[in-house]
Amino acid sequence: MPRFDNRGRPESVAIGLLESAARVSLAEPFLKESSRRILFSTDIAKCNCTADEMERVTDHQFRLDTILAVPLRYVAAAFPEKTILKHLKHLPVAMGLLLMCLASTLPAFAAAKKIILDTDPGSDDALAMMLALNSPELDVRAITVVPGNVTASQGLENALRMVSLANRCDIPVASGAQHPLFQKLITAEFWHGKNGLANVELPASKCKVDSRFGPDLIIQMVHTAPHEITLVPIGPLTNIALAVEKDPSIVPLVKEVILMGGSISGGNVNAAAEANIYNDPEAAQIVFQAGWPLTMVGLDVGDKTLLSQKYLDQLGQTHGPVNDFICSVAKYLINRSAQFGWPGTPMYDPLALGVAIDATLVKASEMHVDVETRGDFTRGETVANRHGAVERNVLHGNHYVIEGVDKVTPNAKVCIDVDADRFLQLFVSRIRGK
Ligand code: BDR
Ligand code: CA
Repeated sequence: MPRFDNRGRPESVAIGLLESAARVSLAEPFLKESSRRILFSTDIAKCNCTADEMERVTDHQFRLDTILAVPLRYVAAAFPEKTILKHLKHLPVAMGLLLMCLASTLPAFAAAKKIILDTDPGSDDALAMMLALNSPELDVRAITVVPGNVTASQGLENALRMVSLANRCDIPVASGAQHPLFQKLITAEFWHGKNGLANVELPASKCKVDSRFGPDLIIQMVHTAPHEITLVPIGPLTNIALAVEKDPSIVPLVKEVILMGGSISGGNVNAAAEANIYNDPEAAQIVFQAGWPLTMVGLDVGDKTLLSQKYLDQLGQTHGPVNDFICSVAKYLINRSAQFGWPGTPMYDPLALGVAIDATLVKASEMHVDVETRGDFTRGETVANRHGAVERNVLHGNHYVIEGVDKVTPNAKVCIDVDADRFLQLFVSRIRGK
């Protein structure tokens, strides 16, 4: 039930839509009986705007005199159309207030983001998967497995055991590529434990594998829900590249791609390359050049998100199958990192999910990124143009002359900074089921 203040008005009012287009789109279904009404709607329980604030904005000229019960849950107020013009001068303030109110109201209304998680599980993949499954902002529609940290078959087994542990057999888990496009697979049990899951032995899965080929599943789902699916690859980009190659028509139908991979300041495999890109540079180049909205959550921002003993202690305060599993994996990773002098374990893959949940956790900058596929020392490097331009060199006789500068079009939002503590707190609280 809506709450009302002591003068009988809605306690909070979120939307003062004075602008006619918005009014038509939102109000139309409810305004048949009177074209002189303007709509104010809100989730009153969640919005921070008080009726008083709204009145201030509108020069005390709102008359919140009618409460209508409509499917938008809480709709209040009407006033004569001719007074709208008078209020238009307050539009910028009203819209600012409106946006503030919407920001606090949206989580209650916004549909969860549909994602397909493409993963090479993988210990930090495990943390990422459980963050996704425990976050109401995300609706995990499928999990596709790619070889990387472990072989394709071990990765599939790990993914199935994890969805089973989380009691989510409703999520299709599909196997994908068995090896990178043009090179041999490089697995990383050295970092992730013999089974890829920090040597934690999970119970056998009660979930069954989906028989579809991962890239085909991606293609199907994108066509079934055009403009709704966000792809979140947190392993080598083989499956995503295969999907694009097989059916390029998915590119404009994918809502966005948020990937963990790359770096604009050096690698972890070697001086230049980050592991996910290094493990399939040709696939990565296909994905970066596909032409869809793409966010790169790279190694260098992941390195700022160290899950340390402090956070592990918080995680250990609650218990449950998923919570305990994540504690064991995190403990293993923290110890492994300590052996290399790190005060915590970098949350590479979980951060990509963090960005899918809340993009304000990171600062990102638009850049053009290419993937080096040939260099002797730089194969697998994500080469980012940070100033958005290249010199134009023109041949004059026996040498080139710089004649100007050409702009390059960005193809990625590259994360350059992160609010690490806010992200780590989010991670801990979600895993603890808070
Ligand atoms: C990436 O490589 C893998 O080892 C991790 O799971 C992560 O996806 C970090 O470079
Ligand atoms: Ca991974």
